[in-house]
Formats: sequence, structure tokens, C-alpha cells
Amino acid sequence: MTRRRRPGCGTLALIALALAVVSAAVALRPASLPEATTLPATETPQPALALRSVADFASIADPSERSIAMFIEAGRVIQHPRCLNCHPRSDHPTQTDAMRPHLPAVVRGDDGSGDPLLQCSTCHNASNFEGSGTPGNPKWALAPAEMAWQGRSLGEICRQLLDPARSHMTRAELLEHMVRDDLVGWAWHPGGTRTPAPGTQQQFGDLIEAWLETGAQCPA
Ligand code: HEC
Ligand code: HEC
Repeated sequence: MTRRRRPGCGTLALIALALAVVSAAVALRPASLPEATTLPATETPQPALALRSVADFASIADPSERSIAMFIEAGRVIQHPRCLNCHPRSDHPTQTDAMRPHLPAVVRGDDGSGDPLLQCSTCHNASNFEGSGTPGNPKWALAPAEMAWQGRSLGEICRQLLDPARSHMTRAELLEHMVRDDLVGWAWHPGGTRTPAPGTQQQFGDLIEAWLETGAQCPA
């Protein structure tokens, strides 16, 4: 039988040294370093919500380059979860900033407004219902499959917007839709705790208008 060795002087000294090093490190922590606890309690910091204006792109002399740069800025709206949730590639909408599958698992139906037995309008009223946090608009429906944006690059979305085989809208109608459509406009007033789309619908519309005027060039 071997007797368990008790920690010798050497071991105790090492422990004491380690403790001293740790407490010194804590004491030396610069005062300017933010404490972890000062970060907001939410999972991720909110992205900057401003949208750059058309004037911010005036320094790009080449119209094609300027066109692409402005579309990329407008893309911060187009690819925002508020828009993408209704422009899925499947027959089901998604929900929240994490774009989770919609609960319950509703389907597109013939015209995007849901199954005849479970229409979108059963739950989605003409305006946001703050009581339950259910978003609303009179035209609440899924975008048609040929207008799907989820999982597509901004360049692909740009090209399909301009492709008459996939979009029934002329350039003028596209602009009108983006600037004035109140279903698009919902994304800036989404109700509940939802993150609104960046900037304002007017700023977004101005970028789209300037993009069209500079030849509607698409990113790669
Ligand atoms: C049974 C009720 C119900 C039906 C039917 C329903 N929804 Fe919803 N939907 C909700 C609720 C409740 C929320 C809010 C969930 C949340 O934000 O946590 C929601 C959220 C959404 C969102 C997320 C908005 C966002 O950006 O956060 C989209 C998009 C959506 N619904 C589309 C549809 C479409 C399209 C249909 C019809 C095909 C539909 N819903 C049918 C109850 C319903
Ligand atoms: C509640 C669902 C919903 C939301 C949210 C939504 N859309 Fe749509 N979107 C639709 C529907 C439905 C159509 C089809 C309209 C039509 O065919 O007249 C559409 C069509 C479009 C089109 C035409 C696309 C094409 O290829 O011609 C554009 C552009 C568009 N939406 C922009 C947006 C933008 C930008 C946002 C966010 C700021 C947004 N949408 C949010 C449902 C939605």
C-alpha cells in the first residue's frame, strides 16, 4: 500500500504563484476595456440601420460602376430578412431575422395567399396586430416562385428583376412598386420587435431610381 503523497512545498508554491499571476492580470486590466456585461443582452449587435443616399455615390465617375454600387447599397434592403421572408424559393414563408420556417407550416397555394382552408389573411390582418405581434397588410401573400430571392446572390436577383420571362413588371412598374407599394413599405414599419429594413422607403426608392437612370447595371 502506498500512501498518497501530500502536496509538497513545491506544489503549494506553484499554486500561490499561479494565483498571484491571475490576480495581477485582473488588476492590470485597462480601465478602458469594456466589461462583457456592458454588451447588450441580445445575441448579436444590431446592424447599422442607415442607408447611404444617392449623393454619397456621386464621386464614382463611371456610370456603370456607380449603378452597380447603388444597387449593392439597395441590396441591403432587398436582402434584408423583412423582404426575404416573403420571397422564398420553397412554397413556405420564413419568419424572424433568423428566417426560420414559418409556424404553422403554411403553403403558398395557387396565388400565394395560402391554402383555401388556411389563408394568410386568417392570421395576417390589414395592419400589424400588436396584441399578438402578427404582422399585417391587406395584400399579405407570398411572392411568386419566379420572384424568389432566398439563397440567390444579389447579382442573380438583379438580373431576374430585369428579365421579362421572370418579372411581369416593366422598369417603371418596378420603380413604382419599390417606392410606393405599401406591402414593400411594411418592411420599414414591421411592428413587434422586428428589425426594420435599413433607411427609409423613400431613400431606397431614390437609390433604385438612380440605379435605373444609370443603366440598371447588375453586380457579378
Ligand atoms: C395560423 C396563423 C398564420 C397563418 C395562416 C399565416 N401566418 Fe404568417 N405569421 C403568423 C404569425 C403569428 C407570425 C409572427 C411570428 C413571429 O414573428 O414570431 C407570422 C409571420 C409571418 C412572416 C414573417 C415576417 C417577418 O419578417 O418577421 C411572414 C413572411 C409570413 N408570416 C407570411 C405568411 C404567408 C405568406 C402566409 C400565407 C401563405 C401566412 N404567413 C399565413 C401567423 C400566420
Ligand atoms: C408579405 C410578403 C411580402 C413582403 C414582406 C415583401 N414582398 Fe415583395 N412581393 C410580394 C408579392 C406577393 C409580390 C408579387 C407582386 C405582384 O406580382 O404584383 C412581390 C413582388 C416584389 C417585387 C417584384 C419582383 C419582380 O421580379 O418583378 C419586388 C421588386 C419586391 N416584391 C420588392 C420587395 C422588397 C424590396 C421588400 C422588402 C422591403 C418586399 N418585396 C417584401 C410579397 C412580399
